[in-house]
Amino acid sequence: MAMIYLLYLLYFAIAVTVALSLLLYTYQCELLYASGFPTGSRSVVARPSQFGLPDKEVILVTKDGYKIRSYVMIQRGEDVAIQSPTVVCFHAHTGNMGHRLPIAQMYTKFRSRILPLCSYGLSEGRPTEKGLKIDAQTMLEYIKQHPILKHTKLIAYGQSLGGSVAISLVSRNEDKFDALIIENTFLSVPLLVPHIFPALRHLVYLVHQTWKSYKTIKYVHHVPILFLSSLKDELVPPGHMAKLYNISQTSGVKVWRDFENGTHNDTCMQNGFFESIAEFVRDNVWELD
Ligand SMILES: *[C@@H]1O[C@H](CO)[C@@H](O)[C@H](O)[C@H]1NC(C)=O
Ligand SMILES: *[C@@H]1O[C@H](CO)[C@@H](O)[C@H](O)[C@H]1NC(C)=O
Ligand SMILES: *[C@@H]1O[C@H](CO)[C@@H](O)[C@H](O)[C@H]1NC(C)=O
Repeated sequence: MAMIYLLYLLYFAIAVTVALSLLLYTYQCELLYASGFPTGSRSVVARPSQFGLPDKEVILVTKDGYKIRSYVMIQRGEDVAIQSPTVVCFHAHTGNMGHRLPIAQMYTKFRSRILPLCSYGLSEGRPTEKGLKIDAQTMLEYIKQHPILKHTKLIAYGQSLGGSVAISLVSRNEDKFDALIIENTFLSVPLLVPHIFPALRHLVYLVHQTWKSYKTIKYVHHVPILFLSSLKDELVPPGHMAKLYNISQTSGVKVWRDFENGTHNDTCMQNGFFESIAEFVRDNVWELD
């Protein structure tokens, strides 16, 4: 009797493992790239004009044939525009670029521009690691061909998953960038999964969207990097950022700023957030007014 009971238990354990494996393998893009969260994120995207910012949306076609959308906010007046650094922004794994317009305050505060980007919001396609890397490269090519933007200093800034996109883009195009800023980014997806889904910790070998920033960051050789870390991050343990900081071997400066009350998604609301970026940019990239 006991034997049969044990056998059932074993079958049950196998069934659960197989089910979890299938779920993880099949739905990891949906889990990782939660472009439909919050509800409506793929249909309603706030416009810069709602925040008093220049409202220009560009539609770019990636080399794999998808149309992606991005807001491009250029300072008025060509002289001013050419002297302001360009910030290309990669947002985190939920929502869309409209949700990040509060960060575009950088536009007014530091005379810079923000170009949020993604296969998110109204952009076509379903985000994947390969696709987001192509999107980022497409954005860079757009900037490098733009009559004004091609003359400006260029900074990549990414939040969380966007930080992984930014590290990857800079590592592959270092000569085109003047600085990198990452915020609450993880070492890699397989190293993050056990923290977020403890039940899946033995199945991380099934993760095919890996974003191995702990490797990629080593290929950023000379660009200065600013690390912004929320110490109350409930999603990505702040230790991941600390390790990325340690691993980075850039010969440009490494600057660490942490926010004791910041959580995963509200770093930009913490005291000193914009000032930290302004100081880093002023010291390492461009003298701002
Ligand atoms: C994340 O923060 C932004 C502000 O930067 C906000 O607009 C957005 O709604 C937040 N998203 C979630 C899922 O909390
Ligand atoms: C980073 O390096 C410093 C100095 O080598 C060390 O004290 C610290 O524990 C390291 N932190 C992490 C998270 O590895
Ligand atoms: C963090 O929150 C605590 C408690 O609300 C407060 O005393 C402290 O000043 C805050 N720290 C910062 C840097 O804002």
